[in-house]
Amino acid sequence: MYLQRRNRILRQSAALRSLVAETTLTPNDFIAPLFLNEGSGYRQEIASMKGYYRMSVDNTLKEVKELWSLGIKSVLLFVKAEDDTKDNTGKEAWNKDGLMQRSIKAIKDALPEMVVMTDVALDPYSIYGHDGIVENGEIVNDPTVEALVKMSISHAEAGADIVAPSDMMDGRIGAIRTGLEQNNFIKTGIMAYSAKYASCFYGPFRDALDSAPGFGDKKTYQMDYANRTEAIKETLMDIEEGADIVMVKPAMAYLDIIREVRNAVDVPVSAYHVSGEYAMIKAAAQMGWLDENKAILESLTSIKRSGADLIATYFAKQAAMLMH
Ligand code: PBG
Repeated sequence: MYLQRRNRILRQSAALRSLVAETTLTPNDFIAPLFLNEGSGYRQEIASMKGYYRMSVDNTLKEVKELWSLGIKSVLLFVKAEDDTKDNTGKEAWNKDGLMQRSIKAIKDALPEMVVMTDVALDPYSIYGHDGIVENGEIVNDPTVEALVKMSISHAEAGADIVAPSDMMDGRIGAIRTGLEQNNFIKTGIMAYSAKYASCFYGPFRDALDSAPGFGDKKTYQMDYANRTEAIKETLMDIEEGADIVMVKPAMAYLDIIREVRNAVDVPVSAYHVSGEYAMIKAAAQMGWLDENKAILESLTSIKRSGADLIATYFAKQAAMLMH
């Protein structure tokens, strides 16, 4: 055929393919989400997230050490609040002795180098399962932001390296930044869930934390999945207000958004490979319909290729093990 160009030349061996690979996944890319529970010796598998557990602080410490030894440098903490701590103010969220605050301290004491990130939103503490304070059936923005500022300061006080507001209230990044500055937490970072969509893929997470909305849905604060330019608007505003890292969430159904955000901003972009995305792979693998390990690496590499610098994923440990 006398072809001038043969694209298969660079694909003919594993060594050649690795030389020309454009995207490389490393454990440095991962943020491992952790679900905390009261008690000791507690370890409960989440029904809709096979192989993922809610753990008490003692067991979490063991897990965190294992993650560190696998090269994972950051964890993102979520707590399952006890029912009797829930109300409509979220005040347990800034309790100095709350589960979140004790967990942050315990992890930073055991492993000071681990980057501890914390979820900032009221849903685990809300009797309504909403990310904010409810008045007359509505999630009210400004009083919620005040609560989120107290929550963020309390996490910083406990030793969190980065607070991660996932609530999608307007103006919360600026307010949190000001609150941190006023309290002299000048080293605390903010990872903003900037383009967080109202997504059915959060279902298993809400099982894990018992935080499903008691009424309605989250569409008055989380984004409409039909929208693209709005993601850029949200992200640029969060950066202006002081976000150090921005996030797109979920990941696999939003790779176009990750790419556009990556092209539009000058801060690191993270993507959240959420609970439902984890559950889909686990379920298909369990049925014998997908090769689990291959599906994990292909999914995570696609997320990175689309432009994510960081990936929050329930597969962090499993993927890191596959890379060792
Ligand atoms: C709470 C929060 C949610 C997730 C992260 N933080 C759930 C929600 O917004 O309803 C979802 C994470 C996942 O599904 O893995 N603000």
